[in-house]
Amino acid sequence: MKHRIGLLKEPAFEKRIALLPDDVHKLINELEISVLVEKDYATSHGITDQDYQSKGAKIKTRKIIGEEATIIIAINPIECFVEQVKSKIEFIGIYKPLFFQFRMKKYSENNVKAYSLDLLPRTTLAQNMDVRSSMDALSGYKAVIHAAELYKNVFPMSTTAAGTLQPVRILVLGAGVAGLQAIATAKRLGAVVHAFDVRKAAGEEVRSLGAKFIEVNGNTETSAAGGYAVTQTETYAKQQKKCIEKQLTQTDIVICTANIPGKKAPVLLEKSSLKFLAKGSIIIDLAAEQGGNCSLTENETSIYYEGIQIYGNSYLSRELPKAASSLLSANFYNYLKFRLTHGLAHELVQTCEVSQYIQ
Ligand code: NAI
Repeated sequence: MKHRIGLLKEPAFEKRIALLPDDVHKLINELEISVLVEKDYATSHGITDQDYQSKGAKIKTRKIIGEEATIIIAINPIECFVEQVKSKIEFIGIYKPLFFQFRMKKYSENNVKAYSLDLLPRTTLAQNMDVRSSMDALSGYKAVIHAAELYKNVFPMSTTAAGTLQPVRILVLGAGVAGLQAIATAKRLGAVVHAFDVRKAAGEEVRSLGAKFIEVNGNTETSAAGGYAVTQTETYAKQQKKCIEKQLTQTDIVICTANIPGKKAPVLLEKSSLKFLAKGSIIIDLAAEQGGNCSLTENETSIYYEGIQIYGNSYLSRELPKAASSLLSANFYNYLKFRLTHGLAHELVQTCEVSQYIQ
């Protein structure tokens, strides 16, 4: 069957868009797919309906898209629309169904097939569709930029006739994609950076960026986790807490990025540990959506505790909508191309099918 892709406007909180006009052009010309774009789809990004039309897309109302499309690309779940279209249409987005099963309830109730790109494995073959890497790298970068704004101090050491300013000291918890980008950004700005991760392999990457790696012995790792971290033993967690607390006495900003796919994020900063930070310190918690690495974190909120500001936000990539939309658009285009070239039965395509993970 010839596919007709529908692009629906995202909810107001979503500042990124899924497909840009140039990728729409490629879908139409290279893959011979028709594209239906909801009116005013990207006007808030300065991209007009005419920009999509000039690339060959048709501008339609949401109702018509619901009647004519075979696949909907939308970053976020659109539950009311799912109820309306039932099983006629397939959805492709980023739903994090392993952790947020409830988001997918309407899809399973209405027998609607959904494919979530955050479920792709971290293999070479899937690299150009890897939305997690694209977005986590931007979030790691923005976390440091945002922390720099909040901390209100210069990052590099600077010596003047009036005195010497010491470099800002940053601790990065979790050295995966977001953590490594945060380290690289903080180093470029002149900060002194320490980082911590449970995966030994992360140590080499941290050191190669010029940061110091804090190692705690007795970690648990398994190749079955596919490169991801696993939950640690209680003994390890206690030792880890001590090491982190020691480092907090020499830290101004903490960037939290530690996560375990589908699970609650590990708590690495208890309320009792925060007394080791000086007043005025900043914590940016990118793991907020999955509970946060700091026990006080509230998602998408800034809170203050004993003079410390804790800001939880797992979507800082939304604050860089131009870069984020450009990368997401390439990821979605590559996934669609892969799906059409290799067929629905291909393992990579099937891994993203949501219903198999819903209990
Ligand atoms: P993630 O977002 O699941 O977690 C972030 C980091 O937190 C990870 O490095 C993890 O080890 C760490 N972490 C978890 N529990 C922790 C704890 N208790 N204390 C301290 N740190 C903890 O991870 P992400 O960024 O998605 O990376 C996962 C793996 O995927 C890594 O091995 C990475 O190198 C790999 N990867 C491979 C790619 C490829 O194309 N081959 C692309 C991107 C990532």
